Amino acid sequence: MAKTLNVSILGYGMMGTVRAVAYEAVTRYYPSCPIKPTLYQAFTLESEAAAAKESGWDAKSDLDAVIKDSGCDYIDVCLPNAMHYDAVMKAIEAGKHVFCEKPLAVSAQQAREMTEAVEKKPELLNAVNFIYRRCPSNVYARKLVKENKFGKLIEARSFYNQSWGGPDTPYSWRFGKTGGTLGDLGSHALDMLYYVTGMRPIELCAMQWTHITERWDPKTVGSDLAARMNRGSDANKGEKVKVETDDATRIMYTLPGGAIGSLECTRNAWGTENTHGYELYFENGAIRWCYDDVNYLSIYDASKPERGWARVLTNRGGKDFAYQSFADGHMYGYRDFTVNACYENMLKIAGADEEAPVATFRDAYDVERTIDAVRTSWENRTWVKLADFT
Ligand SMILES: NC(=O)c1ccc[n+]([C@@H]2O[C@H](COP(=O)([O-])OP(=O)(O)OC[C@H]3O[C@@H](n4cnc5c(N)ncnc54)[C@H](O)[C@@H]3O)[C@@H](O)[C@H]2O)c1
Repeated sequence: MAKTLNVSILGYGMMGTVRAVAYEAVTRYYPSCPIKPTLYQAFTLESEAAAAKESGWDAKSDLDAVIKDSGCDYIDVCLPNAMHYDAVMKAIEAGKHVFCEKPLAVSAQQAREMTEAVEKKPELLNAVNFIYRRCPSNVYARKLVKENKFGKLIEARSFYNQSWGGPDTPYSWRFGKTGGTLGDLGSHALDMLYYVTGMRPIELCAMQWTHITERWDPKTVGSDLAARMNRGSDANKGEKVKVETDDATRIMYTLPGGAIGSLECTRNAWGTENTHGYELYFENGAIRWCYDDVNYLSIYDASKPERGWARVLTNRGGKDFAYQSFADGHMYGYRDFTVNACYENMLKIAGADEEAPVATFRDAYDVERTIDAVRTSWENRTWVKLADFT
């Protein structure tokens, strides 16, 4: 009989609602999971409480009380980035397992403090939702790299591009100082590079750009998702608010062993909706993955006489590919990855982490160090060494 674990979710936005569905699905997807997560409470804004209660949440609007409630075992932080630090530190203090959205923090210093605090309590889960680790294609890519399938890495290219950040998209926390494209999308692309290759940059040089410097005030145009996506409408646009962060970032870097790479992220690339991916070029082959074709990993084996890309279906389960597959090729999507993430956290709490390692606070701290390095590089228009950022 699986042990139950009471989960409280902080935040009732996109991620909070996706996560609630995922916890309830964990033991349905994975009946052998040793721990059954059960939704306990949720923090929502007062304005969201009625809708949350309607969909079955025990919604509360006192954030501290939800975190400290003695019946709760596990806190899941789905709040805007700037609120992660306080919520996580209080959850650690209260002795709760913590799963936090990315980016873990808004500076390397915050991330370091959070990491040090949680590592003093090794009995607690510390995990960050770098969700794309939970896609079987990326677990498989990591396995190929670890097995040294194609030899030494020579060049890497990563990208995470979206298109919703045009001039008609109103202001939201995502355009404030703590909500830029680099932390939002770049953090995923960095973690994916680190996860698949096991390497971090030695030196990097970056540029960050703000295409749209002022945005419509959401108080006059609405702040819900539909309004945010309301491009080109003739709605009353009211006042403008100053944007404080990047719309796009580009990074060039060197890696241990002599490889070089680049990373790009933007919210202004028409035709991309959630186009996250990478290309890795090795001495004897290449690997590429893109979220647009999420269930496949493309592999190029240069030792074969027939030159060409093999498009490998990774949504198959079994011994070669990670995670549950209901039947080969019955395709996986974002919600399935979220179930895998919650499942993986339960395994880790139970003392196992079999399929693919959970992204820890320390992993996310490495990403925050890189983000600090990128900002410094652009501010000073210079190359920087990652080792100088702690
Ligand atoms: N891992 C991923 O793939 C992924 C995808 C999207 C977002 N995220 C991350 O998840 C987090 C939440 O993003 P989201 O898309 O759900 O955001 P959102 O704006 O849709 O929701 C945020 C929620 O936080 C709460 N909140 C908002 N402002 C608040 C305030 N001032 N005081 C108290 N509570 C407040 C509300 O409940 C709100 O619904 C962010 O850190 C974001 O980077 C991760």
